[in-house]
Amino acid sequence: MTIADHRTTGETVPVASDPAAPLVEVRGVSHSYTTKAGSREVLRNISFSVKPREFVCIVGPSGVGKTTILRDIAGLQAATSGEVRVAGTALAGPSNDIGLVFQDYSRSLMPWMSVTDNVALPLRGRMSRTERDGRVASALLEVGLVGHEESRPWQLSGGMQQRVAIARALAFGAPVLLMDEPFASVDAQTRADLEDLALRVRNDTGQAVILITHDIDEAIYLADRIVVLGGRPASVVEEIEVPFGPERQQLVTKALPEFGRLRARVHRLIEDASRAMTGSMPAVEES
Ligand SMILES: Nc1ncnc2c1ncn2[C@@H]1O[C@H](COP(=O)(O)OP(=O)(O)OP(=O)(O)O)[C@@H](O)[C@H]1O
Ligand SMILES: [Mg+2]
Repeated sequence: MTIADHRTTGETVPVASDPAAPLVEVRGVSHSYTTKAGSREVLRNISFSVKPREFVCIVGPSGVGKTTILRDIAGLQAATSGEVRVAGTALAGPSNDIGLVFQDYSRSLMPWMSVTDNVALPLRGRMSRTERDGRVASALLEVGLVGHEESRPWQLSGGMQQRVAIARALAFGAPVLLMDEPFASVDAQTRADLEDLALRVRNDTGQAVILITHDIDEAIYLADRIVVLGGRPASVVEEIEVPFGPERQQLVTKALPEFGRLRARVHRLIEDASRAMTGSMPAVEES
C-alpha cells in the first residue's frame, strides 16, 4: 500500500510517525542522455534526502541538470545508475506518492475542461464521487479559487491557472510535491502570492516539497534547505540549511540580515558553478 492509499483510506500516514526519517532519498543518481552525437553524462552521483514536511529548493546554473534530477525523482525517466527511494521503497516509475507541478501550466491543463474537472482528472476511477468532490472542493478552497469552478483555464489569468495546477496536485494527496520552476511565467506580485501559497500548503498539508528555481531569493524565502547543483557533469556542490522556520513573510524575512548573508553565499556558489561549466567543454563521448 502506498502512502497515498493510506490517505485515501483515512489511515495514518506511516512516515509521519518518524519525522526525522527521510521521505525521499536520492542515492548516487547519475544520468546520461544518448543522442546522435553520442552519450553525455549530465548528473554524476547525486545524493540528498528530504524529510517529511521539509521544503527543499534545488538551484544551479541553467542547463546544469535540475529538470533532469526532478524527472528522475518523479519516475518520469529512469536514472542511468543510482536510485530514488520514497518512504523506503525504491521507485520504479511514476508513483502515487508524488505530485507534480510544472512551469508551463498552459500545457498541463486541459483547455476544454472546467477548473473542477481539471483538478479531478487524476482522481478519476480511484475513489468514490463523494470523496473526489470533497477533495476537489477543499483543494480549490486552499488555493483561493472558490467561485471559479466552472471556468475554463483560458478564462483565467496565468497565476490562477497555476493555482489550478497546484490544486490538482493537492487533491491528489501525495505526500511529496515536486515543482519545476512553477512560478517563472507570472508577474512579480503573483509570484510572491504563489510562493506564500506554496508555503501555506506545506504548513497545512504537511507535504514535503522539492522545488526548482532560478531565483535565489525565492529559494531562500521558501526553503528549509537549498541543494546547489554545479559542474559538468553536475553534482551537489553544497547543501545549505535555511534557519527561518515554517512561517515567513515576504518583506520581513527578506529584510533579515541572515537572508542577505545566504543570498551572497548562494549567489557565489552559482557564479562559481557557472564559471566551471562555461570553462569546460560538454562531455560528449562517442557511442
Ligand atoms: N531528453 C534529453 N536528451 C538529451 N539531452 C537532454 C535531454 N534533456 C536535457 N538534456 C540536456 O541535459 C542538460 C541538462 O538539462 P536540464 O533540462 O536538466 O537542465 P536545467 O538545469 O533544468 O536547465 P534550465 O535551468 O535551463 O531549466 C542540458 O545540457 C540539456 O541540453
Ligand atoms: Mg529546467
